[in-house]
Amino acid sequence: MTTASAPGKIILFGEHAVVSGAAALGGAIDLRASVSVQDRPGGIVITTEDLMLKGFSIDLQSGQLFSSQAAHAVRYISAVLQEFDAHDIEVRIKSSLPASAGLGSSAAIVVSAVMAISRHQGSSLSLKKIADLSFRLEREVQDGLASPTDTALATYGGHLRISREISPCNLPPLELVVGYTGVPHSTRSEVEKVQKLKKRYPELIDGIFQAIGSISDRAQPLMADQNKAELGELMNINHGLLEAIGVGSRELCELVYASRGAGGAMGAKITGAGGGGCMIAIPGPAGKEPLMTAIRQAGGRPFATKTGQEGVRLEREA
Ligand code: MEV
Repeated sequence: MTTASAPGKIILFGEHAVVSGAAALGGAIDLRASVSVQDRPGGIVITTEDLMLKGFSIDLQSGQLFSSQAAHAVRYISAVLQEFDAHDIEVRIKSSLPASAGLGSSAAIVVSAVMAISRHQGSSLSLKKIADLSFRLEREVQDGLASPTDTALATYGGHLRISREISPCNLPPLELVVGYTGVPHSTRSEVEKVQKLKKRYPELIDGIFQAIGSISDRAQPLMADQNKAELGELMNINHGLLEAIGVGSRELCELVYASRGAGGAMGAKITGAGGGGCMIAIPGPAGKEPLMTAIRQAGGRPFATKTGQEGVRLEREA
C-alpha cells in the first residue's frame, strides 16, 4: 500500500482577487487529507472515511447511498485516476478537513492522490510537477475556475505568495482561530458570482482587487515581524472588501463580529471563497479561549490552528 498526505490551507489575504492575478498570501495548516492506494485486480474501488460526511441522497432503484461530500471527493480522484490511466486499483481517502469549507480539502485530496498514485506506478514526480498537474486537474473539475493557490499550498506547505507566480515566503507560523459556519459552499459558484460582477462593473471590481492585492503585499513584512495589531487591521479591511464583492453571509459575518467583539480578536475576516465555509481571527491579548467561546456562542464551530505546516509527504510505501 502507498499512502501520501497533504495539508489543508488558509488564505490569509487575497482570495478572489488572486483568480484575476492580484497577490494572495496563504499558509498550510495542521489538518490533513490522505490517500492510500493498493492493487485490486478486476476494477477500481474508491472508499472515503472521515470526510465529515454531511448530507446524503439515496438512489431508490439501486439502493445506493450517496453522500454529497464523498461524491465531491470522488470526482477529484476520478480525474487523477484518468490522468494516470490507473486500473485494478483501490483508493482510500481519509480527511480531517471539512469539505466545501474553504480549507482546501479538495486540493489536499488531489495532491495526495497524485503523489500516491504516481509512486504506486513507480514514478517519482518533482514537487513542481505535482503542483502543476494537481492544479490542472482541480481546475478541470471546477470548470476552469480556480487559481493555483490551494494546490500549491497543499504541495509545498509553509507560506506562499501567489500572483502570476508562486513564491515561497519564509515566515514564522501565525496562530489563528478558525470559525466554521457549518454551511458548505461551492468555490466554483462563488468564484463565478464574483467574476460575473467583475464583468458588469469592471472599473469598480478591478479597483477592489487591486486594493486586496496591496493588502497581501503589506501583510508579508508584518507577518515576518509578527505584528498582529496591524495584521488584524488588514484582516478587517480585507473582510470589508470581500463583503463588497458579495461573498459574505449572515452566518460568516456574525462569527466575524463576535470574534472582534466578545472574542477580543485583533482582526477577523472570511477565508476562502465565502458564501459559507470559514472565517479566521487573530487572538487578542486574552488569548484564544475567549475567541473560541465567542465563535461557539455565535453558532460557529471553532478550532485553533497554526499556519506554515509541512506540504505533501509520503506516509507509507510498500
Ligand atoms: C478559494 O480557496 C480561494 C479563491 O480565491 C478561489 C481560488 O483561488 O481558486 C476564492
